[in-house]
Amino acid sequence: MFKSSENNSIFILTFNKRLQENIFDNLGIKMKSNKKETQTNYNILGHKIYDKRYKQEQKIKYSIILNNVKFLTNEVILDHGCGTGLFIELIKNPVVGIDNSSGLLTGALKKVKRKENKYLVQGDVDHLPFRDNIFQKLFSFTVIQNLENPSDTLMEILRVTKGLKIITVLKKAYDKKDLICLIEKSRLENTKIIDREESKDWLLLIK
Ligand SMILES: C[S@@+](CC[C@H](N)C(=O)[O-])C[C@H]1O[C@@H](n2cnc3c(N)ncnc32)[C@H](O)[C@@H]1O
Repeated sequence: MFKSSENNSIFILTFNKRLQENIFDNLGIKMKSNKKETQTNYNILGHKIYDKRYKQEQKIKYSIILNNVKFLTNEVILDHGCGTGLFIELIKNPVVGIDNSSGLLTGALKKVKRKENKYLVQGDVDHLPFRDNIFQKLFSFTVIQNLENPSDTLMEILRVTKGLKIITVLKKAYDKKDLICLIEKSRLENTKIIDREESKDWLLLIK
């Protein structure tokens, strides 16, 4: 299921920050300084504070989305930028979660370790270590605004997912005009934008 290449991300979970940064360096992945900064910031924040601070806010988004999406048994899902695994916990289907923050993945590991069909990968969402069209659905909650070249990130999403893609983007980072520009630039056809007052994110459903 997983594809490996020189330029790709890591398959293993490693929770030692220095070791993790060395692995990135050793693999020669050129992490732009702000990508590395984002990673460091999430590591410093850690999974306990993340959940305390953001769990309720994220759950509002999950609940809107789960009311709009049907899952078929055995569809394999990618949780793109899964963080502490708050969304993975809610899903019965097989799920792969990918994130580059060991600090947040530690929390995800605690949540999924007794569950079947849940897999975690530490890696960079701009270099997804997966084959083309391998996932039936993809969920990306509040990740895109962290990336320097979101169009490239979206291209990777399209590459690995053959079915529905749900992407949420912080409203405070993108106004509606910017969001539409991003959708057009990334040639995202069949995109429905859901704007709900109770959600801090735009919710995009892409067929
Ligand atoms: C606001 S958090 C959202 C986490 C999770 N989706 C949720 O609903 O709680 C943004 C997540 O994106 C991850 N992230 C940011 N840039 C990334 C990158 N280049 N590769 C992998 N993960 C990244 C962060 O580590 C963090 O977990």
